[in-house]
Amino acid sequence: MTATLADPRAESYGIFTAAAVQDPYPYYKELREREPVHWSEKAQAWYFTRYRDVFELQDRPDLSVDRVETIYSYLPRTNPQRFSDIVEHYTRWLLYRDDAYHDRLKALFLKAMTPRAVDRLRLMIQARAERLLAQLAGRDAFDAYLDFAARIPTQVMLDLLGLPDEDEMLMRHWSDRCSNFLFQPVNPDKEAMAQEQREILDAQQAYFMPLIEARRSRPGEDMISAMAQANAAGERLTDLEILATCNMMATAGGGTSRSAIAMALWRLQQFPDQLAKLKASPKLINLAAEEFLRYEAPTQRGIRTAREDFEIGGCRIRAGQILHIMIGAANRDPDPFRDPDRLDISRDPNRHVSLGHGVHYCLGAALARLELRVSLAAFLKVFPNYRMATDQIVFMDRTASRRPTSVPVFARS
Ligand code: HEM
Repeated sequence: MTATLADPRAESYGIFTAAAVQDPYPYYKELREREPVHWSEKAQAWYFTRYRDVFELQDRPDLSVDRVETIYSYLPRTNPQRFSDIVEHYTRWLLYRDDAYHDRLKALFLKAMTPRAVDRLRLMIQARAERLLAQLAGRDAFDAYLDFAARIPTQVMLDLLGLPDEDEMLMRHWSDRCSNFLFQPVNPDKEAMAQEQREILDAQQAYFMPLIEARRSRPGEDMISAMAQANAAGERLTDLEILATCNMMATAGGGTSRSAIAMALWRLQQFPDQLAKLKASPKLINLAAEEFLRYEAPTQRGIRTAREDFEIGGCRIRAGQILHIMIGAANRDPDPFRDPDRLDISRDPNRHVSLGHGVHYCLGAALARLELRVSLAAFLKVFPNYRMATDQIVFMDRTASRRPTSVPVFARS
């Protein structure tokens, strides 16, 4: 551990330091061992790092995922109502909603994103991965994040939503900027960020609204058509809800899947025995994908607000308090994961919490798994002897998610 802290308790054992952004696990370990239920004065919030607490909290019905107030706090202080359309957009993301509204959007979403629809994507993901790898095959070195991992999920989203290939960079730009707004950088320029959000949401309206209308009257095989047709208990999605759901899928699903693929390729290089094992037994890919998700969770923490007072881990939580559910820390808890800091691609059982569980269980889980398995298997086939071109991966400056900025590799050893 590199940081020395004057008062480790007051500073939450270093979990907010720049060093923890690059490698949070030693900090999580100390926090989990010393104070598994921790109140941070600095963040005015609770932090839970033990597996059993995280598992319980991910599915407690008396906790809220509503983010309206948080999103208001991201707006400029002077007259934030100018930007109420931004808040309204994010209130249509089912990820940030509770109870009846969440259940209605989720039911309609699931009518459109069926297991069959996801399974149909398998061949498309395979084809997308093979095409990208063929473009890289002649090169001695490339960026396994920017040139490969970051491209697959956006391209898959184009297939899923029925959008043209030339819009890949536009979709990725929107997803990156919305994610930047939602994860808020240190010392944000709130006015500039809100203006940018406004421009993006206006551009998305101009892009998606005519498409939604056209697909409502002439549906195709894509998910926008399926959402426009979806009907659950007489309920339908409005056009603005469909637009918000497209943005949520690209932002929440795109960034996480990219990181998962890139971090798996990076971590495999640190465990040569596991890389050799996977190359020798490609059938292990399903178990291996679960282990990559456990070892490096792309979403490092979930946030909830207590709706009622309750007790956990010997601490009294009060209604209105914020809880940080530390997914990345729970996945490295020695109870239940034996030798948790070791990557073991045949770990079984492996009940990691990287995709959540319960009422807010990731609705893209099947797709995320498919993308990870198919992309990695295809990559290892074309570049079985790839190796890292650097010792040090730099991560984006945020603690709630884990995103490499680049994963430079040599194509062969
Ligand atoms: C490796 C990739 C992914 C990871 C690690 C991930 C992680 C998560 C986690 C941890 C949650 C639970 C949030 C909570 O409890 O507060 C979640 C929820 C969700 N995810 Fe994912 N996700 C991934 C990919 C995707 C994809 C590809 C999509 C869509 C296409 C998606 C859509 C959603 C949605 C809609 C929810 C909200 C579910 C609800 O609140 O009912 N995710 N995801």
